[in-house]
Amino acid sequence: MSDQQPAGPDLTLGVALSDFRDNRLLGLVGDQPVLLVRSDSEIFALDAHCTHYHGPLAEGLISGDTVRCPWHHACFSVRTGEALHAPAIAPLSTWKVEEKDGRIFVREKRPAERRVAKVQGSAPQRIVIVGGGAAGFAAAEMLRRESFAGDITILSNDADAPVDRPNLSKDYLAGSAPEEWVPLQPDKFYSDNKIDLRPTGGDRIGREGAL
Ligand SMILES: Cc1cc2nc3c(=O)[nH]c(=O)nc-3n(C[C@H](O)[C@H](O)[C@H](O)COP(=O)(O)OP(=O)(O)OC[C@H]3O[C@@H](n4cnc5c(N)ncnc54)[C@H](O)[C@@H]3O)c2cc1C
Ligand code: FES
Repeated sequence: MSDQQPAGPDLTLGVALSDFRDNRLLGLVGDQPVLLVRSDSEIFALDAHCTHYHGPLAEGLISGDTVRCPWHHACFSVRTGEALHAPAIAPLSTWKVEEKDGRIFVREKRPAERRVAKVQGSAPQRIVIVGGGAAGFAAAEMLRRESFAGDITILSNDADAPVDRPNLSKDYLAGSAPEEWVPLQPDKFYSDNKIDLRPTGGDRIGREGAL
């Protein structure tokens, strides 16, 4: 978790473009840290912290209409908040922005954007993914996000659903992270998304188990 204490202007009261540094400005909406990003002539407002492990996006790399987290390089669309590249899965919240009399005001939070289907034409009817680690999980999750409607099966040699392995040797091993932080998604995610997860192996993952 970031121990950064974000301080900044109240973005609902408006800021000037001249307040931006390096095409960004960190401020607050209520008590929530929000990052303003300037991309070409447009301004976007999004969560100031990464949905992976809360990295400070204000210190990240802005390129076109994306921002990369400085910690593990997750990439987000500043336009929609979507998590475009691992290791983040969840999108960032975004806010409406209005320019008035030369000042920029952050308005209400935008509703989560529905993705437009991209998988078309000759997609296979069934995809089997071998491996239930971060890569296998990410492949299945992105197939569903891209609106793949066929069957997805994950074959895994683990006994558990895909987990956040880096966490195992850090906070979880130290006993400071609860059990709920370990799975990449709860079991419900797989049934909700019609992903047939088959963790048929005997390798237990956890404080007592082998890796
Ligand atoms: C304790 C620990 C701490 C880590 N810490 C960090 C860190 O701090 N930073 C970092 O960048 N990386 C870290 N890593 C590495 C990171 O977790 C891996 O790079 C990542 O897990 C790789 O994901 P993967 O899906 O490619 O492979 P894996 O997570 O290894 O998944 C492979 C999957 O394939 C399955 N499988 C293997 N053989 C078969 C088979 N024959 N049939 C069916 N299924 C099979 C396995 O059961 C498993 O589900 C750590 C790893 C561990 C174990
Ligand atoms: S905290 Fe942002 S990528 Fe990990």
